[in-house]
Amino acid sequence: MTTPSHTLPANFEIGIAELDTQHKHLHALLVRLREAVGKHYGYATNAILDELAIETRIHFAVEESLMRMLSFPEVEKHVTEHQTLRDQLEKFRKRAQDFEVADDLADFTLQWLNEHVDRFDREFVDHFLRAGIDPNAAPSSR
Ligand SMILES: [Fe+2]
Ligand SMILES: [Fe+2]
Repeated sequence: MTTPSHTLPANFEIGIAELDTQHKHLHALLVRLREAVGKHYGYATNAILDELAIETRIHFAVEESLMRMLSFPEVEKHVTEHQTLRDQLEKFRKRAQDFEVADDLADFTLQWLNEHVDRFDREFVDHFLRAGIDPNAAPSSR
């Protein structure tokens, strides 16, 4: 398996400012998680996992409500994808002090984010743009 890069992939931005900011924050947290696991920093690993639990809950809620608001037909498939990361983070929490397992999970989560953003998140942005909807305008519906 190739080692995921610590730097942001070139095609990381999807064009919705708020989501791009959240993705970058999640990416930075996952890089920190990988470093903490690599150094066997147990307390730091747990603290980052706590932060990730909150940040992923917020991010997924924003994305899923945006998709529902704009009637994206593949929303359930996308929600299932999000559940994959939730499950892996839960597994991580249980096995965080087993650094060999945690090392693999840290690689998996970082790679998951890079691939999910490029494939699944981009897919719903493309859908909105094809339908003539500006997803950047959607959250402020007053
Ligand atoms: Fe996302
Ligand atoms: Fe997503």
